[in-house]
Amino acid sequence: MNSLRHLAIIMDGNGRWAQKRNRPRTVGHVQGVRIAKKIIRACSDLKIPFLTLYAFSSENWGRPSAEVAILMRLLHKYLKREKENLHKLNIKVQVLGQIERLPEDIVKEIVSTMDLTKSNTGMVLNMCLSYSGRSEITEAFKKFYDLNLEKPFNRENITQEFIQTLLETHGTPDPDLMIRTSGEKRISNFLLWQLAYTEFYFTDTLWPDFNIDELVAALHDFKTRQRRFGSVESSGHSHENQLSE
Ligand code: FPP
Repeated sequence: MNSLRHLAIIMDGNGRWAQKRNRPRTVGHVQGVRIAKKIIRACSDLKIPFLTLYAFSSENWGRPSAEVAILMRLLHKYLKREKENLHKLNIKVQVLGQIERLPEDIVKEIVSTMDLTKSNTGMVLNMCLSYSGRSEITEAFKKFYDLNLEKPFNRENITQEFIQTLLETHGTPDPDLMIRTSGEKRISNFLLWQLAYTEFYFTDTLWPDFNIDELVAALHDFKTRQRRFGSVESSGHSHENQLSE
């Protein structure tokens, strides 16, 4: 049976959920935040060591400015209201993405949330904000360029392990399972390097209808998968949690 250290989620379908109810798309985002809160809590209770949520992609900046503004307001409100609760749950919050593109008030909340929770020892919550996998890899090249200026590298030292140290997820194991809601079956520029051997779980449920029962169903489905990592035998991870046998 597989054990699960890292769960990643693409929370998709807020807009369609609202449109089905003849409501503005932003109503779907409000409900989406409520569900995200429940799922964060459930993952923490289940002792999942790492949870990564795709909350806002670099491409999402291309949405109508009113929708972007409301999403930003929701994120700001969420961080301001929830940081104490996240702290009480012993959750360590990290943010991946080009935060310098976010409004100043959100950056302030991000910095104070990360600072407040930085020594917590429970679940690590990675929130991807203004994130794209290709930008992350591009940034890694830039970091490499800068390092190489300081001290030139031997080409033999450029290994996968070294490249991982240049990524924003440095210190986080690769996701074991990635869930995407709303029936779309693509990865949309999410964790491009890290998803190499991740198991995928696609569901037609729209994110605002996602719930703990479906989360548990996805985790059980994952447990039965044959993971071979390109080899012939399944290989598990040594880290244990409540989901391992
Ligand atoms: C996708 O739905 C969702 C988003 C672009 C935003 C997701 C953000 C949240 C659920 C809030 C995150 C909150 C926290 C606390 C991390 P969509 O608008 O693409 O829906 P559609 O595909 O139906 O148009």
